[in-house]
Amino acid sequence: MTHMHITAWALGIILFLVTYAMYRSGNGKARIWHMLSRLLYVLIVATGLILYTGFDLKGAYAMWYGIKMLLGILVIGSMEMVLVRTKKQKSTAGTWILFVITLAIVLYLGFKLPVLPFS
Ligand code: HEM
Repeated sequence: MTHMHITAWALGIILFLVTYAMYRSGNGKARIWHMLSRLLYVLIVATGLILYTGFDLKGAYAMWYGIKMLLGILVIGSMEMVLVRTKKQKSTAGTWILFVITLAIVLYLGFKLPVLPFS
């Protein structure tokens, strides 16, 4: 499941960047890529939730996994906001900053937290 989760977010980020480039260049196929990106968001959250609910977490770990999960959802939210704002030709500076910061923390937390034996 951890591998599926990693595959889902890696693919999701690639699709997000491709969709962004397509919206920027006015490519009509951007809508399809945007829909595929959203499918990946669902897979990221689903695989993350399966990992999370499979753990019997206690104390500080429970808190850190909770923070990891909330920030993971925020990463996805920032990706969607970047795409929608690019589509509407609004400024995206703030949402890009949110994306970069939350992604950096989530990657750090994701790799720092132990992959528990039963994952
Ligand atoms: C784009 C968003 C996300 C990124 C970049 C991301 C990144 C990561 C990374 C790097 C790991 C560690 C994998 C490993 O140790 O080999 C991980 C694990 C995990 N993620 Fe995510 N994640 C994201 C979204 C989410 C979401 C939305 C949830 C929950 C709903 C979630 C829940 C988890 C859980 C529970 C683990 C297991 C932690 C562990 O390794 O012990 N993630 N994620």
